[in-house]
Amino acid sequence: MLTVAGGILEENGMILIAQRKRDDAYGLKWEFPGGKLEKGETGEECIVRELMEELGIEVEVMGLYDELAEDDLTILYYQVKWVSGKITLNDHERVQWVFVDELDNYNLLSVDREVAMKLIQRGISEGFNQGKHGVLSMSDDMVKYYSDRAKEYEEIYAWRDPDRQTEQDLMGVELKKAFKGKRVLDIGCGTGYWTQRISETAESVLGIDINEAVLEIARSKEYGCPSGFKVMDAYNMELEEKYTGTIASFMLSHVLKQDMDGWISHVHDQLEPDASVFIADNTFVEGIGGKLNTKPGDPNTYKLRTLNDGSQHMIVKNYFTVDELVELFGAHTSGFDEKNVFMGKCFWWVSYQYRP
Ligand SMILES: C[S@@+](CC[C@H](N)C(=O)[O-])C[C@H]1O[C@@H](n2cnc3c(N)ncnc32)[C@H](O)[C@@H]1O
Repeated sequence: MLTVAGGILEENGMILIAQRKRDDAYGLKWEFPGGKLEKGETGEECIVRELMEELGIEVEVMGLYDELAEDDLTILYYQVKWVSGKITLNDHERVQWVFVDELDNYNLLSVDREVAMKLIQRGISEGFNQGKHGVLSMSDDMVKYYSDRAKEYEEIYAWRDPDRQTEQDLMGVELKKAFKGKRVLDIGCGTGYWTQRISETAESVLGIDINEAVLEIARSKEYGCPSGFKVMDAYNMELEEKYTGTIASFMLSHVLKQDMDGWISHVHDQLEPDASVFIADNTFVEGIGGKLNTKPGDPNTYKLRTLNDGSQHMIVKNYFTVDELVELFGAHTSGFDEKNVFMGKCFWWVSYQYRP
């Protein structure tokens, strides 16, 4: 009787599968990584050891997901969570992160296929990915992603790409103009990169963000006007005053399309009429930031991001055309047209006075 442990490693809606080496038994078939239990070893101990040996990653076992028996073979499938490490291919041809409903497209070992079918039937939105097994939902993941990314976040503003630098500088100039003398609410302020620029001309700034990790960095900076920072959810802001200006930079792309109208209304609710609004984000550039992923029946697009520690995060990243931005914002404020939109090679922004 042989017992084998397999690991179902799920990160942000995707599952890791590995392809067996060409010359191994069942060469080039895909599998959930894992291996045989050693003498005296429990299934949990085995999967932790195997993933370290095969892929160089440390995992934590969340629970037994399934148990299959075939002839004299028993396979224990454990749901595991990434703790640390960067994937190295010690035993496999390659690995692939796939959405659950894509598992079917891979030539999996027959036993693993059975488990894959169960995963597919339960669906990405039922059971497996919704906290039943303690796995993060998509929006929780955004929070975790930016918390893990806090220290390296501002690396993006140091890219030495001339177009990027030009547009970044222009955005700084536009912000200082838009918020001159305003009481500004910076929504999802992150490490305070733009807050600092706005503070050069604004009357005051309040930065809110859901992550204390980024706010700690924001608080450590110096500002040109009175400033404050608070941990707050941008979908549920409770503020003591109405603001005369607001910025949300690189937030909208992470808002699910189905939540966008509600979110824009909520942002406007924090403002006095005629307040200055500035929303900025990335333009879609082929090849930058990895492949754009879609899911059947889902209007949103997603990108897989890898941080310096090797951890990977599947995040919502939506892109817009000028027409889409005009339609979206035109429904919330009067007089909005394409003149309110800047569409650059790297960034876009909309800038307008809020007129309900
Ligand atoms: C791409 S960063 C942008 C940071 C900053 N605005 C900038 O332009 O450098 C997105 C920020 O949104 C924050 N965030 C994500 N979800 C949030 C939420 N529900 N409420 C408030 N902040 C959120 C993240 O923590 C992160 O700091």
